[in-house]
Amino acid sequence: MTNGSIVLNFYKELPFNIKKDFIKQKNNINFYHPDVKKLVLKHRNVIDIGCGPGHFINSVNFQLNRFPFSIKGFRKINCKGIDFNPKAIIYGLQYSNKYKLSTEFILKSVFDISENDFNFVNDSIFIVANGSLHHTENCLSAIEIILKKACVFNKNISFLIGLYHYHGRKPFLEHFNNLKKLKKSEEYLKQVFHSLRGYSGDELNDESWYQDQVNHPLESQHTISEIYPLFKKYNFELVNTSLDKFSGSNIDKLIQNEEEQYKLGLKALKQKKYFPGYFTCLFSKDK
Ligand SMILES: C[S@@+](CC[C@H](N)C(=O)[O-])C[C@H]1O[C@@H](n2cnc3c(N)ncnc32)[C@H](O)[C@@H]1O
Repeated sequence: MTNGSIVLNFYKELPFNIKKDFIKQKNNINFYHPDVKKLVLKHRNVIDIGCGPGHFINSVNFQLNRFPFSIKGFRKINCKGIDFNPKAIIYGLQYSNKYKLSTEFILKSVFDISENDFNFVNDSIFIVANGSLHHTENCLSAIEIILKKACVFNKNISFLIGLYHYHGRKPFLEHFNNLKKLKKSEEYLKQVFHSLRGYSGDELNDESWYQDQVNHPLESQHTISEIYPLFKKYNFELVNTSLDKFSGSNIDKLIQNEEEQYKLGLKALKQKKYFPGYFTCLFSKDK
């Protein structure tokens, strides 16, 4: 079995972030970055790669696209979600249909993405890939495929990427790996996980988070020093990153301080705070 099909089978069993109902998520579009709303309204074409059950892309559509159709001059926001898991795509489609959102969902692997997936009416696009590419067999080539194909039809591109951090994730992984080595029961591991993350009140959703964070069959961890040159190669600039709480530090400083993420992870664990070692970066290109 290939790594890709191992990951697909894992998510077919239980798609990450599946919820009892989509509507609860509607106020959450700025969850991954404080400027999501601004970026959606600027580009008006949004593509979510590895969208899972489509909460993000449906929420964007629900909040920013539904009501103003009647306003003269309103330009539609095109929303597209791509994922290789049919179960997740069907879930996203159901809610898109229920709320008449017309989000376009495409069932395909990121490795099969083509320039046509990024071809909208104008040459401006907001790409989002939250927590998906580090679950592919080669995260860096997945990023490069997206960059290469997106640049064919687009001049203005914002790309929000969320990945596990190489240093920041270590304490979390070590903690759970040690518990697994001690042959602690699944129930015990779940308790430890939820003592850190808390319970959402949605049992299936909590289970999907636990499985995704603690028992995933394939994940990789990354650094900004590793991905920055790849974005640079396609003429993208770093706008900001969660690593310094979006305060806009320059790249040299970010690279210099990157190992500090390990200490932050350790401290959080000691304080019984949830710190899975996830970071987001916003890159942009305007010609
Ligand atoms: C951790 S989930 C994140 C889902 C969503 N982005 C979110 O933040 O809720 C990872 C997602 O990546 C998708 N994925 C993994 N490998 C993929 C691939 N090669 N092509 C397309 N999607 C993939 C999975 O199906 C899953 O929905």
